Amino acid sequence: MSKKKLVFSGVQPTGNLHLGNYLGALRNFVSLQKDMDCIYCVVDLHAITTFQNPDELRKNVFETVASFIATGLDPDNSIIFNQSSVSGHAELAWILNCVSRIGWLNRMTQFKDKAGSDKEKASVGLYIYPNLMAADILLYKATHVPVGADQKQHLELSRDIAQKFNNDFKCKDFFPLPEPLIPKNVSRVMSLRDGTKKMSKSEESDYSRINLRDTADDITKKVKKAKSDSEQIPDNIKSLEKKPEALNLINIYSEISKNTLDNVLIEMSGKEYSYLKTKLAELLVSEITPVGKEIEKLLKDRSHLEQILKKGREKANIIAEENLKNIREKVGLI
Ligand code: TYM
Repeated sequence: MSKKKLVFSGVQPTGNLHLGNYLGALRNFVSLQKDMDCIYCVVDLHAITTFQNPDELRKNVFETVASFIATGLDPDNSIIFNQSSVSGHAELAWILNCVSRIGWLNRMTQFKDKAGSDKEKASVGLYIYPNLMAADILLYKATHVPVGADQKQHLELSRDIAQKFNNDFKCKDFFPLPEPLIPKNVSRVMSLRDGTKKMSKSEESDYSRINLRDTADDITKKVKKAKSDSEQIPDNIKSLEKKPEALNLINIYSEISKNTLDNVLIEMSGKEYSYLKTKLAELLVSEITPVGKEIEKLLKDRSHLEQILKKGREKANIIAEENLKNIREKVGLI
């Protein structure tokens, strides 16, 4: 780890990753590894804040690593490991639990969404999850964090925690304040069935999302069935403001075709959405199905994936232990 800028990000191993994870996070992970030191973590301790079947969890950790590699992460270049294998995450999380404030956690909208109407029954882990996320980032003194828009509030909390730690322990600039790196048009890829909800692993209908392991046939069917609009495609974005499903398809098309929204509207205006869907399905098939095939291939060689995790854990642990030594000293722990 030589350069000063350091990227950290995490993905939960809760099953099939989807187009939202891909456009919101993974594609950025891959492009960042060219210019910066990067650490990418499969955050299994975050996953268990809601109950996970242990066998499924193990399987999902390997599937997430395979997805990292299949999208283009290079384990010789980036550090790739699972969170629970570096115990410093849990240790720093405890210290930060004592720095973070209950009032700050009470403002976290994702907890409110995930806990639903019966907060009393949510795990304590789910409630303090943003403190663990701050620990993930600060354990490595990461400066940049590529995430989708749904993680923005957690990132702001991480900055607040870093700042309070630096103030409380009178060590200005000890923790850098991590910068979120959020993609512009696809910061929140929406469900294909309901453009007001984000695409997610937890939505019941599989037609709401494109999974990285979907076949060409699945992708084409899902795009065809996606909600859009009965009117023709307009020539300006403003007209799509009240049509979230149509706007979502245009945003995804713009991103996948690597074309600006203005150019997409020039290409598409006056056409039916069925035309856009045909083109979009073709592009998605050519970008996503090779990733899916590579995931399948990688999953057949578990020992290769174990090796990647082992190497990543060793490298991560060296940085974590070095930083923890200083953190313990600042706090007064012997
Ligand atoms: P997770 O596992 O829910 O999602 C992984 C990444 O995918 C992004 N994402 C999306 N982006 C755009 N549109 C969507 N529909 C969409 N759905 C998911 C997420 O924003 C995320 O970047 N708490 C985090 C994991 C985490 C973490 C960290 C991230 C733990 N520690 C430290 C950064 C730094 C989470 O649950 O992501």
